[in-house]
Amino acid sequence: MADLLIGQVLSFGGNPMTEGLGAALHSARGGVLVDGGKIVAMGEADDLRRANPQTRVTDYGDALISAGFVDAHVHYPQTAMIASWGKRLIDWLNSYTFPEEMKFADPAYAAEIAARYFELTLSNGTTTVCSYCTIHPESVDAFFGEARTRGLRAYAGKTCMDRNAPDGLTDTARTAYDDSKRLLQKWHGVDRLSYVVTPRFSPTSTPEQLSAMGALWAEHPDCLMQTHLSEQTDEVAWVKSLFPTARDYLDTYEAHGLVGPGALFGHAIYLEPREIDRLKEVDASLIHCPTSNTFIGSGLFDMDGLSAAGHRIGLATDTGGGSSFSMLRTMAAAYEVAQLRGRPLHPAELWWLATQGAARSLRTDDRIGNIAVGMEADIAVIDLASTPAIAQRAARAGDIWEALFPTIMMGDDRAVKAVWVNGRLL
Ligand code: GUN
Ligand code: ZN
Repeated sequence: MADLLIGQVLSFGGNPMTEGLGAALHSARGGVLVDGGKIVAMGEADDLRRANPQTRVTDYGDALISAGFVDAHVHYPQTAMIASWGKRLIDWLNSYTFPEEMKFADPAYAAEIAARYFELTLSNGTTTVCSYCTIHPESVDAFFGEARTRGLRAYAGKTCMDRNAPDGLTDTARTAYDDSKRLLQKWHGVDRLSYVVTPRFSPTSTPEQLSAMGALWAEHPDCLMQTHLSEQTDEVAWVKSLFPTARDYLDTYEAHGLVGPGALFGHAIYLEPREIDRLKEVDASLIHCPTSNTFIGSGLFDMDGLSAAGHRIGLATDTGGGSSFSMLRTMAAAYEVAQLRGRPLHPAELWWLATQGAARSLRTDDRIGNIAVGMEADIAVIDLASTPAIAQRAARAGDIWEALFPTIMMGDDRAVKAVWVNGRLL
């Protein structure tokens, strides 16, 4: 039976960052008709109710019906060590991250954390994530197994590292290629799952391994490729010393066939002019991880400059370098980082980045990240008065954006009233 969801509805007819705020569409009393896992109609609530008398109706009142959030860069294996104190990137990886990732050799532990991770993200209204796993194939099986059980559209890949990581957390160029290929063949295109070719970053891969990843990606160009780029200045200097003949950090990927459409570069803070031009030319995605960039002390992503230059930009938590599982908190951090760079992001732009923009960075914006006819029915219903502090501020709002902004800045999982995945209420 079809479902009719009623409430305030927020959707996008275009990209408000480049086309203006008119691209954001709001209906104060709208309806979304869901059938067979898809959105099949939308419009005014009363009209849809009249036209579809047989449907099951769920009236969410004043709550906001939105696309589920899309988190374009996460490390699900870092769930249990989120909020680890006091280190910057390289020390943080060595002190906290690598010891935790070592535990994923145990399939039972990997399954436990994957299940816990999806409970946390779904309770925060996030319906799609793009995750790094660990070097262990078991960690990929655990992620996709748990995602599949929940009916999620989900992206992930085996993290490949063959140097500068502890014993027990390295593979080789050969095994990285073979294991990744096997996992890709096992999971890519199964239900709503997609495999992502995943070299961690240049410091932990030899040129031979980067080449092997480039070869695998060339054989499977319909897959995405994800890695890290220019997150901290010490890291950029390290890459320079490891690859003395490279023109810049991006060149360490480019030389091995890892720069092209469908490439996702996490962080991308300290970019040279050549890198900025090349990333635009190939239409690669840059993934902004604002809670991580402030938490690990990385720096301030140039949202204004890069979006004006036409870059494809997604938003992400980067858990557990990021300090939250919530895309609301992530939007708030993106707002604060943009403020520090002198240009406030509008609530419509923030919401777009956390839904359609992030989906666009994963090249799946024609399926998820928006409320529109034909889209898959991954939906988050957001209470815009979820705490006393938010409610008292939203009560004096003059329009939808003023009503929404307190939830962006102060909201958390308490604001997530309901989540629908593939047309099913969780
Ligand atoms: N660079 C390489 N690996 C990582 C990681 O796990 N987290 C973050 N934030 N940056 C990285
Ligand atoms: Zn990352």
